[in-house]
Amino acid sequence: MTEPLRWQDKSQAESENARVGILLAGMGSIATTLIAGVEAVKSGLARPFGAITQLMQIDDAEDPGQKVPLATYLRLPQLDQLVFGGWDISGGNCYESAVRAAVLDRGLLEQLRPALEKIQPMPGIHDPRFLRRTEGRKLKPETNKMEQAEALRADIREFRRRNGLQDVVVMWCGSTEVFLTPGPAHQGLKIFETALRENDPSIAPSMVYAYAALQEGCSFVNATPTLTVDLPVMIDLAKAKGCVISGKDLKTGQTLLKTILAPGIKQRMLGLSGWFSMNILGNQDGAVLDDPAAFRSKEESKLSVLNQILDAGTYPELYGNVSHQVKINYYPPRGDNKESWDTIDLIGWLGYQMQIKVNFLCRDSILAAPLLLDLALLSYAAQRAGESGVQEWLGFFFKSPQVSAGQPQHDLSLQFQRLEQTLHRLAQQLRVKAVV
Ligand SMILES: NC(=O)c1ccc[n+]([C@@H]2O[C@H](COP(=O)([O-])OP(=O)(O)OC[C@H]3O[C@@H](n4cnc5c(N)ncnc54)[C@H](O)[C@@H]3O)[C@@H](O)[C@H]2O)c1
Repeated sequence: MTEPLRWQDKSQAESENARVGILLAGMGSIATTLIAGVEAVKSGLARPFGAITQLMQIDDAEDPGQKVPLATYLRLPQLDQLVFGGWDISGGNCYESAVRAAVLDRGLLEQLRPALEKIQPMPGIHDPRFLRRTEGRKLKPETNKMEQAEALRADIREFRRRNGLQDVVVMWCGSTEVFLTPGPAHQGLKIFETALRENDPSIAPSMVYAYAALQEGCSFVNATPTLTVDLPVMIDLAKAKGCVISGKDLKTGQTLLKTILAPGIKQRMLGLSGWFSMNILGNQDGAVLDDPAAFRSKEESKLSVLNQILDAGTYPELYGNVSHQVKINYYPPRGDNKESWDTIDLIGWLGYQMQIKVNFLCRDSILAAPLLLDLALLSYAAQRAGESGVQEWLGFFFKSPQVSAGQPQHDLSLQFQRLEQTLHRLAQQLRVKAVV
């Protein structure tokens, strides 16, 4: 008589067969750096530094004292089980877009060329009111927003069918849309669907992608500062469809450092009178952020961080009068190699003034790509484990973490603690699911 499968073997067999789709809405610098990076790692040409799903070792709750790779612990798919696709409104296949983004060395891209050329973005949807400085060149013919959503849903179904996929994660990686606050059309499903049919001007293209993805049962990640799924209608729809959602705006360079430094300053009860943050960058994202309306979305997401960490309400003497300013300048010569300067004005013992200067020479998309990979795989695992709605524990990866209610946590170490606790809980839920 054959032995029944142990949960480990059953779940191992399932995860070995699983192929997971990742659809990227917007296939510019960060998306192509992700795809090319995964191809490079698969081919043994490079290592996946910066991705916790590829490198982190976690304490095994079932075997105290032992560390196991996170990927094994959560039975995550291997990189060669991932299938990429997506949409873009500019022309060009994934290789051509990666060359245009000029993030990765040309020599590396040439080696990856056959794999990248096979990935041809599907025509996207565009509304020039939300993205004023980009011309849409490769667009779906539909102009009504509900019809656009239907066309995107058909794309997702076809991608799933063609590649034999059970699970698909959709990630919004398009250009930053102009600043928007939630309005009446975003409050509930019925009213949102009516608004789609009536081409309501408060529905941005990213929301149409999100609506289509959730209707098709996909998890959804918002890598940008735009509202997208941070709306009552999307939260309700995600719960109703059993989908996980997360956002907003990947926490990559300057804000990552801010959320590491500020908690330490506060823990030592040092005061602050100001924090001035400057950036120069010359990629396409920088060109879009040169539009004040798009920059406003980014500014909101960058400014919120210090207020929450410092908690001026509890410590008005230390943080009641902090001048926090953020500037981003589009400076073409630097391309994707962003440079940031922070000047932090500190107040110490007896009110004596001090300064910290931070000069981070980073690479925008090199910091962003591993976060996209982690978010895709962890969203997949969470949805498989039975989670739905806003995944606040993924706030570790975002500048402006989406929460269901209340204020988000920004302190990186507290975010990491919550992430770790949730990883253990998900591992447990996945085991229970594999047994039943
Ligand atoms: N680079 C980073 O480190 C970083 C960090 C955090 C957040 N982000 C955000 O991620 C997003 C992408 O950044 P990037 O550097 O890849 O920008 P990018 O300009 O290189 O790429 C954006 C792509 O989106 C496409 N696009 C725009 N609107 C679209 C639509 N409606 N449908 C389909 N495609 C559309 C554009 O044609 C372009 O190819 C931006 O919103 C940016 O603010 C980037």
